[in-house]
Amino acid sequence: DASDIEKGTYPHYMLKEIDEQPLVTRKIIAKYRNENGGLTVDEDIVNAVNAADRIYIIAAGTSYHAGLIGKQFIENWVKIPVEVHIASEFSYNMPLLSANPLFIFISQSGETADSRSVLVQIKELGHKALTVTNVPGSTLSREADYTMLLHAGPEIAVASTKAYTAQLAVLSILAAVAAEGKGRSLEFDLTKELGIVANAMEVLCDQKEEMEEIAKEYFATTRNAFFIGRSVDYYVGLEGALKLKEISYIQAEGFAGGELKHGTIALIENGTPIIALSTQEHVNLSIRGNVKEVVARGANPCIISMKGLEEEDDRFVLPLVHEQLAPLVSVVPLQLISYYAALHRGCDVDKPRNLAKSVTVE
Ligand code: AGP
Repeated sequence: DASDIEKGTYPHYMLKEIDEQPLVTRKIIAKYRNENGGLTVDEDIVNAVNAADRIYIIAAGTSYHAGLIGKQFIENWVKIPVEVHIASEFSYNMPLLSANPLFIFISQSGETADSRSVLVQIKELGHKALTVTNVPGSTLSREADYTMLLHAGPEIAVASTKAYTAQLAVLSILAAVAAEGKGRSLEFDLTKELGIVANAMEVLCDQKEEMEEIAKEYFATTRNAFFIGRSVDYYVGLEGALKLKEISYIQAEGFAGGELKHGTIALIENGTPIIALSTQEHVNLSIRGNVKEVVARGANPCIISMKGLEEEDDRFVLPLVHEQLAPLVSVVPLQLISYYAALHRGCDVDKPRNLAKSVTVE
C-alpha cells in the first residue's frame, strides 16, 4: 500500500512509525488469531520449536535486543533453553550446538548480511531455521525453512521502532502457542493482554509533550547518558541506549543495575543523566537502591516505572500492563525521548550519519 510509505502530516518517519505501534500490535493479534479467538501459528513452525532441544536466536542491533526478550518468553513459557547471539560474532564464536537445534533469525529487513552468513553456515550443517521478519520474500525469509511475518508495514526510519515491538509481540505469540502445544498453557490470556498493551501504547503516544519535556530536561546538552535496569528492564535499557546514540549521537550505554558497582559507577559525574526503568516487581527495590547510589554521586535520575510500582519522585509512570509484556510498553517513551533529543540537537532523525537502514555487507 503506497500510503504506508508516505509521511503524511508527520515531520519524520520515525515519529509516524512510533505512533503506528498500537495499530501494528492490533494487526498482529488479528493476523495470528484463529476462528475460536485463540492464537495460532503454522503447525510446522510449532512442531519445529517443540522438537528442538535448544533454540539459537541470531540477530543484530535492535533485533538482537528483541531476541533477548524473546528468550525470556520461550524459556519461561515453553521451557526450552534459548541462546541469543549477535550475528556477526556467531561465526567465530560458534557455541557447541545441541543435538537438535532450531535457529531463529530475527531481522526487520530480512537482508542483514551478518545474519545471512550464519544462516548459510547452519544450513550447511543441516539445521533448520525460522526467520521472523517484516519483509516477505526477503533473503532471510527465502533461505530459511519457515517464516513468521511482523505485519508492521514498511519501516523507513533508520532507527527501528515499530519493528521492535512487533518482534516482541510475534515472539510472544510463538512462545505461547508452542507452550500450549507442550500442554503448558499460559496463566493469562495473551490475546487480551496484548490488546491492553496496544491501548497502553496509545496512551503513551498521546503523551508526546511530556516526552519532549524529558528530552529537553535531560538531553539538551549532555555528552553522555546511562540506562539502567534489571531483568528485562536491562534489555529494554540496551535498546533505549541504542536508540539515543544512533539518532542523537549522545554517548549512551545500557547497564544491568547490579553491574554498576563493578565499574560503571566510576563514570557518574555531577548531572549525568541516568534513565532507570522499573517495571518488574521482583527487582523494584534493587533498582531503586541503584538509583540512590548514583544520585549520591551526583547523577540526574529519570525513573520510569510501571503503575503500581511508582514512587513519589518518579519522572514518568507507565500504564499498567502484564508484567511479562512490559518491554512492549516501556520502550515507547524511550523511543519518543530519543526522537525529541535528536530533534532538539538538530540531528537528521530519519537518516542519522554513517548508518544504513539495512546493513547488507558483513
Ligand atoms: C536499529 O535502530 C538499527 N538501525 C539496527 O541496529 C538494526 O536493528 C540492525 O541493523 C538489524 O537490522 P535487521 O533487523 O533489518 O536485521
